[in-house]
Amino acid sequence: MDAVGNTPMLRLHAVTRDLPDVEVWLKLELANPGGSVKDRPALRMITDALSDGRLTPDKILVDSTSGNTGVAYSLFGAALGLRVRLVMPSNVSKARKDIARSFGTDIVFSDPMEGSDGAIRLVRELVAKEPERYFYPDQYSNPSNWRAHYDGTAAEILDAVGDRLTHFVAGLGTTGTMMGCARRLHEHGRPVECVAIEPSDALHGLEGLKHLASSLVPAIYDPEVPDRILPVMTEDGWDMADRLAREEGLHVGHSSGANVYAALKVAAEVQKSGRGGCVVAIVADRGDRYFAPMKWERRYVW
Ligand SMILES: Cc1ncc(COP(=O)(O)O)c(C=O)c1O
Repeated sequence: MDAVGNTPMLRLHAVTRDLPDVEVWLKLELANPGGSVKDRPALRMITDALSDGRLTPDKILVDSTSGNTGVAYSLFGAALGLRVRLVMPSNVSKARKDIARSFGTDIVFSDPMEGSDGAIRLVRELVAKEPERYFYPDQYSNPSNWRAHYDGTAAEILDAVGDRLTHFVAGLGTTGTMMGCARRLHEHGRPVECVAIEPSDALHGLEGLKHLASSLVPAIYDPEVPDRILPVMTEDGWDMADRLAREEGLHVGHSSGANVYAALKVAAEVQKSGRGGCVVAIVADRGDRYFAPMKWERRYVW
């Protein structure tokens, strides 16, 4: 738990060759112990609930996620001796099920035809039936989610680059990263433009990100907080993830590819303006997390 946060910052060199007057830095959230940015909010939701009594050792932490938040809940549940139960559609990849189970998490399967909304409905039913048995963090509505980024991620970025910072780029999933970081960065003495990334289409392959116009909008989202929303196509996010691996030696997930794609677009605008600047983008997780479900199993199992 002590290893969460204080993640390194990496300055890009190769892909920014044509942008000599702009610093582009990545905040490497892949360096968290669970391998993603979601360690911060998961840990904060658990510790806040333990300290105010919503979570007690006899309760089961339950939520509907098969992704990075599920890994984080499973990891901290094991570390703290708390029971964790995840609801996921039965057709999620074997790798996703195996990762959760390896931490001792139990899995309840929802109807594969109903997708992630079916998993959300089922977790709500479970909690409604036996509310005293469960702690349901609900990351989409829980203010501890964005507060983890307000107190952690954004403060660390300011410590690292300080007054040089001109732009911040992060994707919108639960929106916790953007809500927390942008609120903190807007309180800083110098103006920082906060750019939110969303997939350009409802059907997309940028896992972790939401196309807000066609999705259930998270309760923690306030549209007034980001200064700008930039849509990114799936192909551009995937291609940038490939480029970062080949040209920078940095193997990141696709949502991070989308963030860097957008960060370079912003950096090109800054370069053109002649004013110089410093852009910081979030790298949410590592690329190898996507081999099993998205490349290997798609071809050989499904
Ligand atoms: C890979 C990845 N990228 C981006 C995000 C979006 O972050 P947030 O939920 O803070 O908006 C997530 C969140 O689940 C994620 O797993």
